Parts: sequence; C-alpha cells; structure tokens
Amino acid sequence: MTDKPFESLPRHVAVIMDGNGRWAKKRGLPRSEGHIEGAKTFRRIGEYAGNLGIRHLTFYAFSTENWSRPEAEVKAIMSLFGDYLDEALRRLDEDKEKGIRLRFLGDKSRIDPALVSLMDTVEEATREMTKVNLNIAVNYGGRQEILQAAQSIARDVKSGALSPEEITEQTIEERLYTAGQPPVDLLIRPSGEQRLSNFLLWQCAYAEFWYSDVLWPDFTEADLDRALGAYAARSRRFGGL
Ligand code: FPP
Repeated sequence: MTDKPFESLPRHVAVIMDGNGRWAKKRGLPRSEGHIEGAKTFRRIGEYAGNLGIRHLTFYAFSTENWSRPEAEVKAIMSLFGDYLDEALRRLDEDKEKGIRLRFLGDKSRIDPALVSLMDTVEEATREMTKVNLNIAVNYGGRQEILQAAQSIARDVKSGALSPEEITEQTIEERLYTAGQPPVDLLIRPSGEQRLSNFLLWQCAYAEFWYSDVLWPDFTEADLDRALGAYAARSRRFGGL
C-alpha cells in the first residue's frame, strides 16, 4: 500500500467488479461465494480509495443484462445488496463523519420494492455528504441510461419546455444517473477482460483504461496503487496535442 501521495489523483474512478464466478469455480465453490468475497473486496477497496482522497467512485454491481443469470445467483447478489444497505443504515453516523454520500445508478423499477426503499432511505440520509461520492450501479446499462435521457429530452421538446436548438451536452448530462458528477478519469477492470460492457458509456468518453488479470475477490490495495500509478504516468490530451 502506498505511503506517498500520487502526483495526480483521478477525480472519478470506476470499477467493473469482474471475476467473482471464476474465483469461486477455481475453488470448487458455488458462484455466490465469489460474489460474497467480491462484496468484501468492494468494501475494502472503496474504503481505501476514499481514504486516498478519490472523490467519486463508481462500482458496477449488477447490469441490465445480469437478470439472465440463474435465479439463485441473482437472488444471492440482491441479498448481498440488502446486507450492505442494512449495514449502511446501522453505520449512518460513522459514514456521515467520513462524509460518504451513497448513490445507486440504474433503473430501480425492476428491483424488489423493499430493496428500493432501503436504497432511497440511504441515499436520502447521506444526501448532504460531500467528501466521497460512492456510486453503486445496480440494474445499470449505459445504453438504457442514454435512452432514458433522450426520452426525457423528447418529452420536454414535445411540451415546449425545450427547443431542439437548445439541446447541448449539458442537457444530456443533467439527465444521466451521474448528473452533477465529473466524467470518469480512470476505469479499472480486473479478471483479464478488456471491454466496457455497457458501463458508463457517456461518462467514459475520455477515461483512461487499466486492466489486470487479478480476479476481483483477490484485488488488493496494492492493485489499486498500481492502477493509480499507471494513471498518474499517462498523458491525457482529450483529443488535443
Ligand atoms: C461479475 O463477475 C460480477 C457480478 C455480476 C456481480 C458483482 C456483485 C458483487 C461483487 C456484490 C456487490 C455487493 C455490493 C454490496 C455492492 P462474474 O460473476 O461475471 O465473474 P465471472 O466472469 O468470473 O463469471
């Protein structure tokens, strides 16, 4: 783990928590055990990144495509969210002290209403926190996010509240789940896969990508240090020279 600050720290780090299933398979365990370990890694890395001073963190926990997994696996993942939310509610005072704001990105309409109600309570209770913005993407899809922004704009144009000429990038951004947050600077994907998988399509327009073969449950603070070191050494030109 690092003992010196990084020269340039990303403002927004996004993580695709991949490899839980393979981690479990390697050990002859059910896939749900991989997700249990993955959820522990999420807590550990989230805490470490926040302590390093990263202000915005987004973890991909469940995609719009993940519903096609076996029912037992979906249930296991949803139950991990429930545990985490119960814990977040118990820990509210501590999180307030740390200044952690929790937000859920995604379409909540398909999620169990009891879970949604917990999500809403935690989001509401941490709304004023400003030190760390911790996003968890649940039933999230990048195309779906852009689609619902387009529908919202179309409704405003239809009602006369907006004219087509007035539509700017900001008009779209303020309708995304990440409204008000900076774009992703660094995207981390462990487990040897090198694709975006419909994650934060708009927000990753200029993100630096960092991949690793480590499976998510095995991901350590030292791995995050490596990603941040690589990020600090990159030259970001945003299309310029
Ligand atoms: C991808 O690995 C992982 C998921 C679809 C689920 C991720 C969920 C968690 C880590 C639990 C999160 C919990 C909280 C509290 C946020 P995979 O199963 O696709 O792995 P594989 O590619 O090896 O099969």
